[in-house]
Amino acid sequence: DGRVPARAMAAATPARSQRVFLNHLDSHCGRGYLSKCVVGASLEDLEEDEGEDENTSDAEVSNLKGGQRPKEGVYQVVGTLSKVESNKPSFAVETYAVSNISDELLSHLLECEIILYNITEDANQIEEATWAASALHTEMQRFETLKIFILISTIMSWAKSKPLDPEDSEIAFTDEDYRRRKSHPNFIDHINAEKLVLKLGKTNKRKFSTYVVASGLQYGAGEGILHYFFKMAWLSETPSIPVFGDGNNFIPTIHVLDLAAVLQNIADHRPKTHYIVAVDESMHTLKELIKCISKNVGPGKIKMIPRENAFLSKELTQSHLDMLLVNLRMEAMFLKDNFSIKWVAQTGLVENIEEILKEYKESRGLLVMAWQADDMGEEGEDDEEESENIEEAQELLDGIKQSMEQNGSHLDDQYVIKFTKDKLKTMPCRNQGYVLDGFPETYDQAKELFNLEDEDEEEEIKGRIPKCDKLITPEFVISLTAPDEFLKNRIINLPESVVAGTHYTQDRFLISLNLFRELNTEDETVLNYFDELEIHPQIIDVAKFEDPENRIIVKEIIKEIGEPRNYGLTDEEKEKLERKAAEKHLVKEAEEVAEQERKEAAERAERKEKWEEWNKRLAEVKRQEEELLEAQSIPLRNYLMKHVMPTLTQGLNECCKIRPDDPVDFLAEYLFKNNPEIESDKH
Ligand SMILES: *[C@@H]1O[C@H](CO)[C@@H](O)[C@H](O)[C@H]1NC(C)=O
Ligand SMILES: *[C@@H]1O[C@H](CO)[C@@H](O)[C@H](O)[C@H]1NC(C)=O
Ligand SMILES: *[C@@H]1O[C@H](CO)[C@@H](O)[C@H](O)[C@H]1NC(C)=O
Ligand SMILES: *[C@@H]1O[C@H](CO)[C@@H](O)[C@H](O)[C@H]1NC(C)=O
Ligand SMILES: *[C@@H]1O[C@H](CO)[C@@H](O)[C@H](O)[C@H]1NC(C)=O
Repeated sequence: DGRVPARAMAAATPARSQRVFLNHLDSHCGRGYLSKCVVGASLEDLEEDEGEDENTSDAEVSNLKGGQRPKEGVYQVVGTLSKVESNKPSFAVETYAVSNISDELLSHLLECEIILYNITEDANQIEEATWAASALHTEMQRFETLKIFILISTIMSWAKSKPLDPEDSEIAFTDEDYRRRKSHPNFIDHINAEKLVLKLGKTNKRKFSTYVVASGLQYGAGEGILHYFFKMAWLSETPSIPVFGDGNNFIPTIHVLDLAAVLQNIADHRPKTHYIVAVDESMHTLKELIKCISKNVGPGKIKMIPRENAFLSKELTQSHLDMLLVNLRMEAMFLKDNFSIKWVAQTGLVENIEEILKEYKESRGLLVMAWQADDMGEEGEDDEEESENIEEAQELLDGIKQSMEQNGSHLDDQYVIKFTKDKLKTMPCRNQGYVLDGFPETYDQAKELFNLEDEDEEEEIKGRIPKCDKLITPEFVISLTAPDEFLKNRIINLPESVVAGTHYTQDRFLISLNLFRELNTEDETVLNYFDELEIHPQIIDVAKFEDPENRIIVKEIIKEIGEPRNYGLTDEEKEKLERKAAEKHLVKEAEEVAEQERKEAAERAERKEKWEEWNKRLAEVKRQEEELLEAQSIPLRNYLMKHVMPTLTQGLNECCKIRPDDPVDFLAEYLFKNNPEIESDKH
């Protein structure tokens, strides 16, 4: 038994966390799954399953599975992001910005026990994946423990394999045939990477062990490739969903969570087989898959279109199309015999469509409707009888004509209710919801419209609370009310162009208003019908808001029912928006630069002006100071001329005559002696 060594190993080592590397971990659908898995859990499941009782129920098995184990027992997920601007997903312990071949990336890889490279849909990752495997192989001797490298590849590397038996094309390929596989011409790089990775794992299996997983077309959670069809169906903007070519090609598929379980099993079991085919047990053709989506999401029909036309779709890449057009029958033998997988969708998409739809809506943030499984089945069968219903439809039409003739062109309630009900049951209404405005108007109309048809009359009276058809009953009821006076004023103020052809003329409006007030007597109103169902109407008094365009009222309603839910933008739309934003940014930047320059120029001019003025003022000040100085110096000069200069001149003359040794000393002495004031004092 190949399982014994693995199990023995699990028993010997206590649960501890293992570090797992994932490339582009933000783009993986089943991404968070491994981080929740317990190391070794798939081994224990196997033991329990094999145990005494083969009839253990699913619930019991899941109890046995270690849901509440200590945190340190789980895988620690680290990895690279597909886009620089992506945020670290919550399940990841660490993310690395280096999504490129570098020593830094290698150092991160060396910290991990398990390295996963997903190259299924992204050929640009192949180079990095083969580099990573080769680089780890080179470093192998330094590993303290075994490292496992798992390459998640695709069954497209089998697409052109020769049939096992030329006589019988229905024999499926299994893991064991992997040496005979021949790749689709656009997936040569994939098969080459597979071969290299397998070869690198053969040098020293106790140090570095490698696995290749050939995955079927992945679906589940948000849907990868099939999202194109889900979205088209959900929107139901076209009457049918396209099938490329005749649609008779078989596509191997696998739910992403089941693929994640396969990866977990490989990590836990470390099997001796190194090439593993991961597909579910379904063998569906493209037509069957798309028919199922169309039936369960909408609009119900499919249409074959030539293969060439498929290439016109902008949302599908070449490799997506290659995968949709593959024709292969494959069987995952190894998984079946040697792994314990708690399958999410063992039998494939078609048999699990309800669950998958629920997941799809949740992951895409779309409205989740509380529909009932039985209804879906019935709907599907009705569909096929559609063409036989022409006679019935003709009968109905005749009935309507007759009724209208007899009743003065008035369409009887029974028909209005039937048509409304039919419309509410269509896929677009079920997927995207609906707004019913102004109908039903009475308790009875609401009852007819929403009550389950085959309700037993007696029970209804006994039970009091009516049983409604959950499929079509609204989630919210909003009543816009206003006093008569307000309504009358509004009608009077409506422009003639709006009134023309409606019942908003004054006299007709008054009749309708009276009728409405009469019908809605106290305990038999349309609102009471919903109140009894515990869908309590939100009542908004329109007159309270002075809001002719109802903007405030819409806000009030959104408060109650939440923001509109729909698909996010497509990549193309996003790109367009981003481009626009970038252009706007550039324009704004240019404007800012221009504004800055303008400001600076103005400042410069101002500075210059100030400078000039300052200079002028400075010159003026200087001039004034000089004048002042001049004016102040006049008396001194006069004084000097009158009293000092004569004595000084005499002194100088004397000095020239006597020629003393020290002329300055002499002169000072002279001036002192002949000081006119001193002289005058002498007098
Ligand atoms: C897988 O299971 C089969 C059947 O139980 C067994 O013969 C085979 O040896 C197992 N292979 C490995 C690698 O464990
Ligand atoms: C592999 O990558 C593609 C995108 O390149 C993604 O859609 C898919 O879900 C990934 N698969 C797994 C198992 O993570
Ligand atoms: C399991 O259930 C089947 C049918 O329900 C029964 O025949 C069989 O004896 C059960 N096996 C065990 C081990 O209880
Ligand atoms: C990856 O690194 C190479 C050089 O090592 C460089 O030329 C290339 O632009 C890088 N690519 C990305 C996506 O960073
Ligand atoms: C005409 O209208 C009345 C009341 O709305 C209804 O009872 C009657 O069945 C209608 N006649 C036909 C032929 O539908």
